[in-house]
Amino acid sequence: MSLLAELAREIMRCQDCDLHRTSTRAVPGEGPENASIVFIGEAPGWNEDQQGRPFVGPAGQFLDQLLASANLPRDKVYITNIVKHRPPSNRDPLPAEIKACERWLDRQLETIKPKIIVTLGRYSMSKFLPSETIGKIHGVARKMDNMVVVPMYHPAAALHQGSLRKTIEADFQKLPQVLAGIEQVEVATPAAQQLSMF
Ligand code: URA
Repeated sequence: MSLLAELAREIMRCQDCDLHRTSTRAVPGEGPENASIVFIGEAPGWNEDQQGRPFVGPAGQFLDQLLASANLPRDKVYITNIVKHRPPSNRDPLPAEIKACERWLDRQLETIKPKIIVTLGRYSMSKFLPSETIGKIHGVARKMDNMVVVPMYHPAAALHQGSLRKTIEADFQKLPQVLAGIEQVEVATPAAQQLSMF
């Protein structure tokens, strides 16, 4: 069994916070272990809780469109959430729930070692860029340790708001360039110089 699949089995059994009591099942995430890009949302909603898969409801359909527009096949990227069980009535996850769940995302990222992390919404942005404001830094790639973080608005927030929708669509259009930039740097530049490229 792959490391990610083993991790998913552990996540399915997790009882570290009370969300496992009110949800149907955990939604660990999906995608290949060698994904270059990981997308991180907030928490499963009703559809995800029913199906056990991330981003399969209306926000997921919009995310699918955004991925297609950036020439990123959904089955080539990894998609997960900050919190793996659905909060009741889709309320915001509580700080204690986020903390209890943090180890799973950390292990997923250690396993996948993505080149790019795309945060979707403020909860996942806060994990990497806690003192930033999404309105100021959305769509801007930032080098952090050995990866690049690109903060985006949450697709559910952008779906029905004309101006945000255009913004997130434009931000996704930048992803192929960010990925190509990293790959070019990896091929052409000695490791010591790579940090200065971002
Ligand atoms: N919203 C999220 O943040 N994650 C999902 O999986 C679905 C909707």
